[in-house]
Amino acid sequence: MERTCPYRMPVGYEQLREGAPLSRVTLYDGRQVWLVSGNAEGRALFPDHRLSSYVLDPAFPFLAPRIAAQTQQHAAPPLVGVDDPDHGRQRRMVIPGFGIRRVAELRPEIQRIADELVDTMLEKGDEAELLTAYALPLPSAVICALLGVPYEDRSFFDERSRQVLSSSGENEAELARQSFTEILHYLYGLIARKEREPGEGLIDQLIAHQLAEGALDRDELAMICSLLLVSGHETTSNMIALSTMTLLDHPDQLALLRTDESLMPGAVDELMRFTSIGDVLPRVAAEDIEIAGTTIRAGEGVMMSTMLMNRDPRAWDRPDELDVTRKAGRHVAFGYGIHQCIGQNLARAEMEIALATLFRRIPTLRMAVPGDQVPLNAPYVLQGVAALPVAW
Ligand code: HEM
Repeated sequence: MERTCPYRMPVGYEQLREGAPLSRVTLYDGRQVWLVSGNAEGRALFPDHRLSSYVLDPAFPFLAPRIAAQTQQHAAPPLVGVDDPDHGRQRRMVIPGFGIRRVAELRPEIQRIADELVDTMLEKGDEAELLTAYALPLPSAVICALLGVPYEDRSFFDERSRQVLSSSGENEAELARQSFTEILHYLYGLIARKEREPGEGLIDQLIAHQLAEGALDRDELAMICSLLLVSGHETTSNMIALSTMTLLDHPDQLALLRTDESLMPGAVDELMRFTSIGDVLPRVAAEDIEIAGTTIRAGEGVMMSTMLMNRDPRAWDRPDELDVTRKAGRHVAFGYGIHQCIGQNLARAEMEIALATLFRRIPTLRMAVPGDQVPLNAPYVLQGVAALPVAW
């Protein structure tokens, strides 16, 4: 089911929401899997170790042929695509790089980048394509600084990261695969360079400690770095662009934020809940699981719909309304349980600063085309807009 508006539920979701918290749905290849729409059931299942994220399990379900083709070409992606003990081992290595203290240190730099990008937009005239002018370069500069990837190599990743996660069109699977391979090759080169001339980023720390101590090898290190690089670019840029569109479409909510910027951290979580851009996280049951009067059998596919969980009327009052004053922190748009997003502190800081700066510095910002003419991302991986023409 595809979204027609990038922040609204697909039409067919209404029926799923009215039914049981788990339903049987049919995938593109005819396979039947469970779709979890209930918030309470999702929060019980996400941390359950009997649900596996191991993408190379022959029973693992995919949302589209493109994703299946992409996955089968590679080894299992680190973190998101593996279970414990590998998952826990990899997560412990990288998590200190994304802690609250590290993100707090990065805030002034994020603010500086946001201001610089707005300066450039304003210098160039009275219109822009927001994704390439602002929403993408901001997280790109930040994740490169955090990882220790040279600033001048950024444009190489901006384009390829988008192709890995959000490309659309005829050769999308091939393009995504090729872009991923190019990123991986670049990282092998960068790791070799950094072994000779160490720098200051997270990659340098992983080389100095984990690689030097034999806790991982160069292949695993390059795979982890490529995952961090792609996730750091693509998710947050999608959220900044889509949040801008959503707020412009909800002028009453935007007015509240303009009068009281202290609402911004809560608004970011509400926008995460409302848009749920990483909808439908796939899993496979490793054992039988009893839940909500149903049995998920070992080997069955399970699709976790973050959007339906985030709009479950049993968990949320007026779930389909955007309310920036709502306490939305319990949403599952960053996932939940052991795979919950590593970059969430960073993403929140980037979104807060990006949105506050944009609307403060360009008070007359508006969409340059009607909402229904805004191109959408390829469905299934990350929801969002493929471009956002704006004017002021
Ligand atoms: C608004 C932006 C973001 C959204 C919506 C988002 C969403 C998510 C979601 C839904 C998951 C859970 C996947 C699952 O359970 O299968 C996840 C995991 C992850 N995210 Fe994010 N993310 C964002 C930003 C970031 C950033 C900035 C990074 C930085 C590198 C990042 C890195 C990761 C990693 C490495 C994982 C895997 C964690 C694990 O498996 O233990 N994300 N993200």
